Amino acid sequence: MKALILAGGRGTRLRPITHTSAKQLVPVANKPILFFAIEAIRDAGIEDIGIIVGDTAAEIRDAVGDGSDFGVKTTYIQQDDPLGLAHAVKIAQDFLRDDRFVMYLGDNFIKDGIKELVDEFEADSANSQILLARVPNPENFGVAEITGGRVVGLEEKPKQPKSDYALVGVYMFDATIFEAVNAIRPSARGELEITDAIQHLIETGRDVRSHIIKGWWKDTGKLEDMLEANRVALSAVERDIRGKVDGQSRVIGEVVLEEGAIVENSELRGPLIIGAGTVVQNAYIGPFTAVSTGCRIVGAEIEFSIILEDCRIESLPRRIERSLVGKNVRISQAPTKPRAFRFMVGDNSEIQVPE
Ligand code: TTP
Repeated sequence: MKALILAGGRGTRLRPITHTSAKQLVPVANKPILFFAIEAIRDAGIEDIGIIVGDTAAEIRDAVGDGSDFGVKTTYIQQDDPLGLAHAVKIAQDFLRDDRFVMYLGDNFIKDGIKELVDEFEADSANSQILLARVPNPENFGVAEITGGRVVGLEEKPKQPKSDYALVGVYMFDATIFEAVNAIRPSARGELEITDAIQHLIETGRDVRSHIIKGWWKDTGKLEDMLEANRVALSAVERDIRGKVDGQSRVIGEVVLEEGAIVENSELRGPLIIGAGTVVQNAYIGPFTAVSTGCRIVGAEIEFSIILEDCRIESLPRRIERSLVGKNVRISQAPTKPRAFRFMVGDNSEIQVPE
């Protein structure tokens, strides 16, 4: 079997981070979300991985390389425009050939991996198997109608859903999917939809099965989902203190302090992770926070947040929480009067201040 990871797309819901970076490389627990996907595929026994890349191709190639660090082999497939998930399958035909494959959306986080699903698909003769999860708000998802394990219909964001089974971002196909992606037409939003391709499989009498996921998963396209994925990834970390903590500091619970990190006169309440070379002084870092490498957190409090590389967060009168801070960002108190907010903020940023 082969795998196809989709790591192109626009990432509009995660701007401004995605103006400069691939959303699939935003880290949870200090590891890019995409790396979890690659590891899940490898752990399911698949080594041959095609990666669909778009505008952020260079950054993704830099981060993943030839796959040898993960024990897999990667092939990059350029998608010039994000014309839809089914379009991505279409342009990957030369790579996938006649092999059965798993398609994995590179911004999805599936806590318990996909081995069970892959084993099930390998063991039977279905043409496709889709991963489903029960959700309280199916009208926001692609929704499957199922009868006795067989998928009999699919709808994209239906106003009146026929079930509460939403499509999770992992799909298994055999080569009959190429017939489907070549037959369908773009949807109203101009994309070749994978739901339309699977509906085409169903209508042409192909065997489309479902696998209900029981564990935790998230499509991390938006800030709050990214923070949730970070929370779940951090819930699994175990205490590992490789950096230096002085005698005036308190380190409570599951805290990972990477090599060269320095903590002085501060309180760390896990689960949290602090990256290599980051300095934390006179500060509080609370649960579900991931601070990347090379940051300085001085005289500040942070909780339930993701802070990327090389940030300086200094002398803040209030706690930061539920935040995603991009690379090399500076947040500090204005040194001179008047006591006003002063910003230099990129396009599509979002700032909320307390009363
Ligand atoms: P989406 O999150 O549906 O789309 P997007 O990345 O364009 O984001 P937004 O809606 O915020 O603008 O995509 C799911 C995954 O599939 C994501 O990893 C990007 C990838 N993708 C492609 O590789 N090619 C495509 O044509 C599309 C639509 C998505």
